[in-house]
Amino acid sequence: MSDWSAQEYLKFEDERTRPPRDLLAQVPLKSPRRVVDLGCGPGNSTELLLARYPQAEVIGLDSSPDMLRQARARLPACTFVEADLASWRPAERTDLLFANAVFQWVPDHPAVLRRLLEALPAGGALAVQMPDNTDEPALALMREVAASGPWAKRLASAAAARDDLPTVANYYDLLRPLASRLDIWHTVYQHVMAGPPAVVEWFRGSALRPFLAALEENMRGGFVVEYEKRIARAYPPCFDGKVLLRFPRLFIVAVR
Ligand SMILES: C[S@@+](CC[C@H](N)C(=O)[O-])C[C@H]1O[C@@H](n2cnc3c(N)ncnc32)[C@H](O)[C@@H]1O
Repeated sequence: MSDWSAQEYLKFEDERTRPPRDLLAQVPLKSPRRVVDLGCGPGNSTELLLARYPQAEVIGLDSSPDMLRQARARLPACTFVEADLASWRPAERTDLLFANAVFQWVPDHPAVLRRLLEALPAGGALAVQMPDNTDEPALALMREVAASGPWAKRLASAAAARDDLPTVANYYDLLRPLASRLDIWHTVYQHVMAGPPAVVEWFRGSALRPFLAALEENMRGGFVVEYEKRIARAYPPCFDGKVLLRFPRLFIVAVR
């Protein structure tokens, strides 16, 4: 798959940084020694970790060179490493693994979550937020447009880049036996967007990537026009022309 674009992602930085703020507010650790921001992206979530834990060693980890370039420029005093979460293991003395909006992209992520929680020392924490929005119109319409246009063959596998999340109870059953304390909650954000084109822009920085990356330049425009038409019908304007992007999200804070 093509690289992520930090520039696209940061167009909605305030909205995208709200969930990691809400997640971090529930992390009970007072003074972790080493903190790793898994899927740190352009460093927006890493910045929150540095502010909360100025005495800790804070490391950002990501698999995208473009995201890491942006993160290093933003936080030059911080260490950033390129790695794939599928096989990465925390070093000793790592007390907090923080992962905002990344595990939904990692194949078989429940097994990876389990492995990472098991690797933490007693009292260490794994804090995770994942969008649980695969059934929302914005994502269903992506798959619908992909399946119905001249691009259908090319996009046959793009929809598989994201699986539906398991149920909240599945995560509880998976992680509770390994945790001294497990906080798990599921909530629906309402991101206020300027209009339907803004909804499309939002997803260009995330869920649309696998679809657009699989298309030649000359087909991309047609795909986006068709998608935006359907988004405008699915997200009707409020009194001021803004649209509400409903966004279910799952949060987990597991303490070893
Ligand atoms: C949606 S961004 C999240 C950025 C940031 N954590 C935030 O809170 O806004 C997801 C990031 O996960 C990274 N990512 C996706 N799969 C990954 C993997 N297998 N290993 C490491 N990073 C991954 C992407 O490169 C991207 O930067």
